[in-house]
This record gives sequence, structure tokens and C-alpha cells, in this order.
Amino acid sequence: MNTIISGLQWGDEGKGKIVDYLTESADVVVRGQGGNNAGHTVIAKGVKYILHLLPSGILWDDKVNVIGNGVVLDPIGLVEEITRIENQGIRITPDKLRISDRAHVVLPYHKELDAAREAALGDQKIGTTKRGIGPAYADKINRCGLRMADLLDRDFAIAQITRRTAEANEVLARFDLPTFEAEQVIEETYRAFERLRPHIDNPIPVLHKAWKAGKSILFEGAQGTLLDIDYGTYPFVTSSNTTAGGSCTGSGLPPTAIDAVIGVCKAYTTRVGSGPFPTGDEGLSEYLHGLGREFGATTGRPRGCGWLDTVLLRFACMVNGVTGLAVTNLDGLDSYDTLSICVSYEIDGTVHDLPPADRSAWDRAKPVYEQLPGWKTDTSSCRSYEELPAAAKNYLERLGELCGAPIAFVGVGPDRSQTIVVP
Ligand code: GDP
Ligand code: IMO
Ligand code: MG
Repeated sequence: MNTIISGLQWGDEGKGKIVDYLTESADVVVRGQGGNNAGHTVIAKGVKYILHLLPSGILWDDKVNVIGNGVVLDPIGLVEEITRIENQGIRITPDKLRISDRAHVVLPYHKELDAAREAALGDQKIGTTKRGIGPAYADKINRCGLRMADLLDRDFAIAQITRRTAEANEVLARFDLPTFEAEQVIEETYRAFERLRPHIDNPIPVLHKAWKAGKSILFEGAQGTLLDIDYGTYPFVTSSNTTAGGSCTGSGLPPTAIDAVIGVCKAYTTRVGSGPFPTGDEGLSEYLHGLGREFGATTGRPRGCGWLDTVLLRFACMVNGVTGLAVTNLDGLDSYDTLSICVSYEIDGTVHDLPPADRSAWDRAKPVYEQLPGWKTDTSSCRSYEELPAAAKNYLERLGELCGAPIAFVGVGPDRSQTIVVP
């Protein structure tokens, strides 16, 4: 059974926790897109792990983890992450972590170019994670990027880094941002590359062998549908296809290998970074931040919070081909008397049940809400669907109905054990 786990909102839906839960019955976990802009939180046996590039299966002893060709990989960042996770007692051997030789490399100047672009945009800035993701994907598409395999050809790589560093420096100097010495970029990159070298090869045969042998492969999506370069709130998006198709192009496993797509969403909506957020609600943000929740795992920024938006979810279920929903953070709504669910947008007097493409239409989109009674009960200790309060089940069933997909999992807390399987 090969399953894609996709975020259905603006990222941080709880994908890491769901992947970790499903990993128990999987053999291989694959990341196919994004980079260390992702921050996936997993709490296992009381210990909290934050993963950026490492697939969540790394926390298990006997799983193969693959960083696929669609990922943009910051070697220095990955070595730091491996060290941090190893210091938490997790062993990361070459057998356990395979890195695609086709993955593009994020170089130090990509991060500064990311900052430069943001500075140039002023109050129109995207609010990126400043991990160099956009500039690295731009080089890939522009056919001037460097892949892990290219680092094996030292002369080529040195010439390429030297040329690209000079080009980057011209841009950085214009913004009074720090420039780079090519020698230093080369030295730091190779130091990290040497540490990663035993993990690097072509993982496609490994994945195909697992598929043909009937093993279970899990695809760990990063970011979310509304951050997808094609389907998201462009230009306030990331630079990859975060939706289900990206898992195939980003790994070398074809669409015919996929059996199921689990779409992960919160029971409400969050967004970090800039861009439209029709159901954003200051009261709900303050309430959740007051509980110490909804601070970004990568940048620590407080996430904006808002009511559940089924206009987004309906679209996300369509473009991902969701076969089952995982609704996380239901417990975040435990104290509310009444809950709002956005069922459509009103834009200039017309009702829309799918998100618009037009940038300015987003600013005029007024959410149309339906009110549902809250459950006013602590759900964090519920371990079966039956145990959930009737109003909570009612809320979930309405959510499924509005999105056109069945609910498969419900999250009532951050721990591995706080995941309910819906019969
Ligand atoms: P990801 O990027 O999609 O993996 O999600 P993040 O880890 O960035 O953010 C999700 C946050 O919600 C993390 O702090 C998780 O520990 C937490 N979380 C996930 N599921 C639940 C849940 O059902 N209830 C609660 N209270 N927290 C959850
Ligand atoms: P996970 O995998 C939430 C957002 C940034 C910004 C936009 C572009 O943890 O769900 P980028 O650095 O990618 O160029 O930033 O995308 N963003 C995320 N928001 N969760 C993420 O990942 C994100 N990755 C990028 O905040 O708005
Ligand atoms: Mg996250």
C-alpha cells in the first residue's frame, strides 16, 4: 500500500505526526519536494523531534528514508539536522537514509538572495523562511543549478559555484547584504557533502524494488496545497508542487504506484507568512497563542489562526485526489461555545465554492459562515471515535461532507498516541 500524505491548507497541518503514526506499518518514507523550509513536529514517547529535511520515518529503527530528487537540499543544514537528531539518540546510518544524487543543492548565497528578494518586495514580501528555497528552485528551472551528483565532478562544481557566487554577489551588493568568497562557499559545501556522501546515490531502483515487492511506501508531503506553486495563493506560495503529483515527480515513483492519498488539515486554519487568509480571526489567534500553540517549527513565528475554510479544503481534496482526511488539532477547539465553518466565499455579490485565481479577488472574498455548536469537553484523552462528544462528531461529519472526502483520522493531541482511527 503506497500512500501520499499531503497538506491541505497553508502547511503545518500536522503532517509529521500523521506520517509518524502511519510509519509503524510502512517500510519506506520518502520526501519528494520542498527543503528545510519544512518543520515537522513529532512527539514520540514524550520526546519532541523537529524535522526539516529528514523524513519522519528516521525516528524508527527499521525504516528506509529517502530524500528524493524533487527536494532542494541544503547540505550544511542537513548535516546540522543529522547531528541534532543523533544527539537526541536516533541512529542515522547510510542504510536508513538515502539521498538522491539528482536533488538540487541549496548553497549559502541562495539564502542571502532569498533575503534580498524579500527586502526588495518591502511590504509586499512573501514572508519566506529565508532558507533559500525560491532561489534554489529558480536555478533548477533556469538550468543553472547544481545537483548532488554534480558535486562528484569537482572541477565542474567549483567552476559553477565560482560563477554563480560572483553573480549572486552583484545582487547582494545592491542590497548592502553580505557577499560571499567562492573559496569559502566551496569549502563549507564540500565539508558537508563529504559527511553526506555515504548516503548519496540513485534511490529510484530501491523504491521500485520496494513497490514491486509489495512493501508499503509513505510519501511525506511538505508545505500545503495553498502554498503550491500552481494551486496556491500565488505569489504568496512556496516554489514547489506541494500537492500529490509532486510526490511522484519528486521521487521517481509513477502515479500508477499510488494507492491512497491522505489529506491532512487542522480542525481550524493557520497560516504563517504573508498573503490572503479570508477566515483569519484575531480572537482565535490570541486564544491559541495563549495556550502556547501555533508557533512555527522552523522560524518560531506566531502563525495566524482562523476558522475552518472548506472552500480551500474542497479544492485541495480535488487537486490531491484525497481518499481520506486526517483532521488534526480537534482539541484546539475544545473550549468554544460556537464554531464557524466557512462554506463559500462571496466575491462582489457572487457565491464561490472554489478559491479564485485572481489576486485582487482574494482581498474582496468575504467568507460565508455556517455556525455549529461546540462540544465544551476535553477531547485530548479520547482514544476512539465513539468516545468523542456528539457535537465534535457532528463537526467532523459536516467537514467531510463539505469537502467531499471521508474522515480517516482525528488528532486530539500532539503525541503519537493521540491519533484516532475512524472506522
Ligand atoms: P507539519 O509541518 O504539517 O508536520 O506540522 P507542524 O509540526 O509544523 O505543526 C503542527 C503542530 O501541531 C505541532 O506543534 C504538532 O505537535 C501539533 N499537533 C499535531 N497534531 C496535533 C493534534 O491533534 N493536537 C494538538 N494539540 N497538536 C497537534
Ligand atoms: P511544513 O512542511 C508553513 C511558507 C512561508 C512563506 C511561503 C514561502 O512545515 O508544513 P519559502 O521559504 O518556502 O520560500 O516560503 O511558504 N512556508 C510554510 N508555511 N509550513 C511550511 O512547511 C512552510 N514552508 C514554507 O512561511 O509564507
Ligand atoms: Mg510545519
